[in-house]
Amino acid sequence: MKPLPYALTRAPQGAALADRQSRLRGARDRAAPVSYGAAAKPESAVPHPDLPLQLLGGLSPAQFMRRYWQRRPLLIRQAIPGLRPPVPAAELRRMARRDDVQSRLIWREGGQWCMEPGPFARLPAAGSAGWTLLVQSVEQYHDAASDLMQRFRFVPDARLDDLMISIAGDAGGVGPHFDSYDVFLLQAQGRRRWRIGRQRDLSLEPGLPLKILRDFVPEEEYLLEPGDMLYLPPQVAHDGVAEGGGCMTISVGFRAPDRAALARGMLEAAAEQVAARAGLGAGPYGDPPLPGPDLSARYRDPGQPAACHPAELPQRLLDETLAAAARVSLDEALAARFLGCWLTEPHREAVFDEPATPPPDLAAGWPAAGALRLDRRTRMLYRGRELFINGERAPVPASPLLRRLADERRLDCAAPACRRASPAERGCLVQWLDNGWLHYTM
Ligand code: SIN
Ligand code: CO
Repeated sequence: MKPLPYALTRAPQGAALADRQSRLRGARDRAAPVSYGAAAKPESAVPHPDLPLQLLGGLSPAQFMRRYWQRRPLLIRQAIPGLRPPVPAAELRRMARRDDVQSRLIWREGGQWCMEPGPFARLPAAGSAGWTLLVQSVEQYHDAASDLMQRFRFVPDARLDDLMISIAGDAGGVGPHFDSYDVFLLQAQGRRRWRIGRQRDLSLEPGLPLKILRDFVPEEEYLLEPGDMLYLPPQVAHDGVAEGGGCMTISVGFRAPDRAALARGMLEAAAEQVAARAGLGAGPYGDPPLPGPDLSARYRDPGQPAACHPAELPQRLLDETLAAAARVSLDEALAARFLGCWLTEPHREAVFDEPATPPPDLAAGWPAAGALRLDRRTRMLYRGRELFINGERAPVPASPLLRRLADERRLDCAAPACRRASPAERGCLVQWLDNGWLHYTM
C-alpha cells in the first residue's frame, strides 16, 4: 500500500477536555444528527438474568456470566440474526476525518506493521486490500450504535466501556495480539476469520507501533459471518483477518481499572472531602461533604527541645501528620462517591445538545403520554441512596423512580409511579432536560 501519510495534523489531546460548561451547553460545532438503520430490535431494555438470550446463543445472562465471563471464549452463531451495520462504512470513514473522534489506521508495508492515528485527510480506497480502520467510541456519536451497546447491559454499566467499529479491505487485520479487557467481537458485514489461542507466552514484537505477539500459537479457528459473535476474556491471543472486502467488525469493550487508579481516585476523593469540610471549596468528590472527622485542631508542640539541628524535621510533626491522616476513613461511602462521580464522567468528547424545542415543564404538569429517555451520552449510576449522573452526585436521593430511570434509561410518562414524582425529582428531571442529558419524546 502506498498512499502515505494519511493523517491530518493531530488536534492537541488536552484541548479535548473542554470545561464542563461548554461541554454541557453544546458550544462545539456539530454535524446535524443522522439516524441510521439500527440492528434488529433489542430483546428488552435490560435482559432478564435467567431467561435465554439469543444474543448469548440461548444461554441466560446468568449462565453466561457464571460459565464464560472472564473465564473462557464463546462463539455464538447468529447472536443477532439480520444484523445490519449500525453505522455505514462511509460514515465511519467520514468520522475518521474528525479531530474529535479517535481513529487508527493499520496496514502492512514491506512485511512491517504500520499504525497511524487519525484524523485522516485521506484513507485507502474502499475496494483496496490489506488495511483496517478502527473508530473508537462510536456509541457517543450514533444512537444506533448506542442502542446496540445497551444490549450488553447484563454486564454492569460500571464495566461497559465503548463500542469500537472496524472496517477493513480484503486481508485486513490488526495482527495477532491480546487485549487486557473482555471483548465481544460482533461481525456486522462481510466475513472475518478469527484464530484464537490461550498461550501463556504473551511477549510482544519489540519496536512496533502496535501490539503484535512475537509467537502466536492459534488453537481454534472460526469464520464469522454477519450476526455471528465471538466473546473473548482478557489475555486470550487472537487474530482476525478479513476475507473479502467490506468487512465490518463491532467490538464491545469493557473498562477495568487497575488498583493504582482505584487507590489514587479514592485518595483524591478523600482529599477533596477534607478540603470541602474545611470550607476550602471542593471538586465533585467533595460536593456535598460526607460526614467526617473534625480536623480543625492545630499542631502544638509544648516541650519541644531547643533545636541543635534546626533543619531537621521534628519527629512529633511526622507523628501528628500520620495521626491526622489516620483519622480520615476510607469507607464505602467515600468509595461510592469516588466511583459514582468518576465512572459517570462523560466521554471526553461528549457534547450535549440543547433541547431543540422547549421541554415540557414537569414541575407545572406531568405529560399524560410519551417518555423520558436518557441521552446516549448520559452516564448514570447509583449506590444505596446516592445517585450519580454525568460526573456529579445528584441533589436528590436515588428513589425507586430515579433508579428505574438509571436502569432502564427511560421512563414511561403514563406510568403511575412517574405521575407521583416528588417536586424534588421533577426539579431534577427539568434540569436534566435543560442540560440535554435527558429528552422527552412523544
Ligand atoms: C478488529 O476489529 O479488527 C480488531 C478487534 C480486536 O482484535 O480486538
Ligand atoms: Co483484540
